[in-house]
Amino acid sequence: MFLPSFSRYTKSCRPERSLRCFCSSSPVLLRDSSLAHAQLHAAGPIGFVFDIDGVLIRGGKRIEAAKPALQLLNHHRIPWILLTNGGGYSEAARTAYLSTLLDVNINPVQLIQSHTPFKGFTKTYRRILAVGGLEDRVRHVARDYGFEDVLIPADIIRSNQSVWPFHGFSADQLNRWALDPSITNVFKKPIDAIMVFNDPRDMGTDIQIIVDYLNSDNGLYGTIRNLHKVSHNHTPSIPIFFSNNDLLWANDFNLPRFGQGQLRIIIERLYQELNNSLTLDSTIFGKPFKSQYDFAHHILIDWYQSLLKNPNLINFNSNSQALKQILPSIGEIPVNSPFNKIYMVGDNPESDIKGANNYGWESCLVRTGVFKDDDLPDLKVKPTMIVDNVYEAIKFVLDINGYI
Ligand code: G3P
Ligand code: MG
Repeated sequence: MFLPSFSRYTKSCRPERSLRCFCSSSPVLLRDSSLAHAQLHAAGPIGFVFDIDGVLIRGGKRIEAAKPALQLLNHHRIPWILLTNGGGYSEAARTAYLSTLLDVNINPVQLIQSHTPFKGFTKTYRRILAVGGLEDRVRHVARDYGFEDVLIPADIIRSNQSVWPFHGFSADQLNRWALDPSITNVFKKPIDAIMVFNDPRDMGTDIQIIVDYLNSDNGLYGTIRNLHKVSHNHTPSIPIFFSNNDLLWANDFNLPRFGQGQLRIIIERLYQELNNSLTLDSTIFGKPFKSQYDFAHHILIDWYQSLLKNPNLINFNSNSQALKQILPSIGEIPVNSPFNKIYMVGDNPESDIKGANNYGWESCLVRTGVFKDDDLPDLKVKPTMIVDNVYEAIKFVLDINGYI
């Protein structure tokens, strides 16, 4: 049960264990999630799901609390996975980077990026426009996932620079990142879907090209559909999938920065402008949506079972043989979860915390990212607890669950 108001901070069900006074160096438990000690382990294991930006790292630097937090969980053999709205890299590349930065081994199967569920679309869509991320990396990620034919916005610009005359690509970048027009056949072959994998790097280009495709004649670039013949122009010519909806995220700047949600808002607004004020039908993945939590729940269960069979998997390094993530279908609800409780540690109330609460998980809001104590009066979602950082979260949860 959520406490109805923050005035309840001063009350406690289990004063000595559950509630800490509300000051910035102490955890605040807003909902009593503890069990009597004897019930704890009989009730089943606990598991953790971590957000990345603002919890484990910030602006390319690690948050110092991250390493001891993950080590403490490994020490107690408590399973954990990472659930980020970030992306633009393969899961293997991203975990290799994080393992080095955090100095903790992370198995690629422990990572869910915002676009990881796109893997489930490779049989449905053959030729796609993949948007976002640095250089041409998104093309490689999409191909790794199994998409056969992947265009990126740079391909369209290389085919005809008048598509968006204000693009920011140099001739050299177009030669390196974009494919030759004779291979891409941009103006001859339609695409089947648009997938936004990550935040745009050349937003003007991406906006123009996405909107052109949404209003094209059946996905062929450079054509326009006849609106008089379209009965449901909520529905674009080809489907569009956004991999996350974060309006804000935390890097090393002192204020939160716009994320992929900014792009969605602009695209929707332009679509309305061009389609008699009708709202664009689109699909959004990532936190806080249930489908992403279902996906994460499956992955956490699989990881837990893999660790039971082989505890050494937590020592994964670049020489280890990669495990294959068992992919649930999109929207598949996990059954027979072994977990008594799952804790989501996040910095973004609108994404991590809202999603976790709606999904029935416990939520730990940290002060190292988007959320600041000044936001409390306007906080629309109530986390289970508010803590200074990820290590405080782990210590506190292990304490109330009788592990330490
Ligand atoms: O682009 C990154 C961002 O939107 C959030 O990442 O790890 O805080 O979910 P994360
Ligand atoms: Mg975050």
